Amino acid sequence: MERTHVAVLASGRGSNFEALARACAGRGFPARIVLLVTDNPEAGALKIARAHRIDAVVVDCGHRPGSMSRGSSDEILRMCRDRGVDLICLAGFMRIVGGCLLEEFAGRMMNIHPALLPSFRGLHAQLQAIEYGVKVSGCTVHLVDPGVDTGPIVIQRAVPVLQDDTEDSLSERILAEEHAAYPEAVRLFAEGRIRLEGRKVLIKDA
Ligand code: GAR
Repeated sequence: MERTHVAVLASGRGSNFEALARACAGRGFPARIVLLVTDNPEAGALKIARAHRIDAVVVDCGHRPGSMSRGSSDEILRMCRDRGVDLICLAGFMRIVGGCLLEEFAGRMMNIHPALLPSFRGLHAQLQAIEYGVKVSGCTVHLVDPGVDTGPIVIQRAVPVLQDDTEDSLSERILAEEHAAYPEAVRLFAEGRIRLEGRKVLIKDA
């Protein structure tokens, strides 16, 4: 059977992209990454793409931090169409995706966030969790909707928040869970086991 074609959008280090690339290289994994897009020519993700022989493109998304120019989202949409992309994974992509790109990929675009949504949306989610004083945090893979970190939840994994945690130590503990959660969510999607009922994601044979 044809494997699910995935495009990953990443702005930085790219460790989630790498976790996905490793999973996809595994025997029998039902998806493969056909494209990496970054808005940052210095992104670590570019080096990871080279190591995994994944096609990578730097797209100028405009100078407004957090948002994308219309032209750049059209360009990404065109590249995804050309490569028969079935699923887009945002992996530390620091811009809000909307417009035609989100419309065409509604229900087929995922994001990973370093908190248990709906708590601590937006930037510095791990620090927000520490400052709020929660005892448990974690990560969430969710479908992307027009809001910021508001889409239907596919998978969550929890970690304890320790009394002496810093933003770095908690981020590291959460990141290990992210690297397991994202490939799992992609697998569920690729196996056709995800169904949306209202804003609930139902998983077949969970
Ligand atoms: C990850 O922790 C991811 O959850 C977070 O950025 C980091 C990217 O790391 N994303 C967000 O905060 C999005 N709101 P990576 O480049 O090593 O994958």
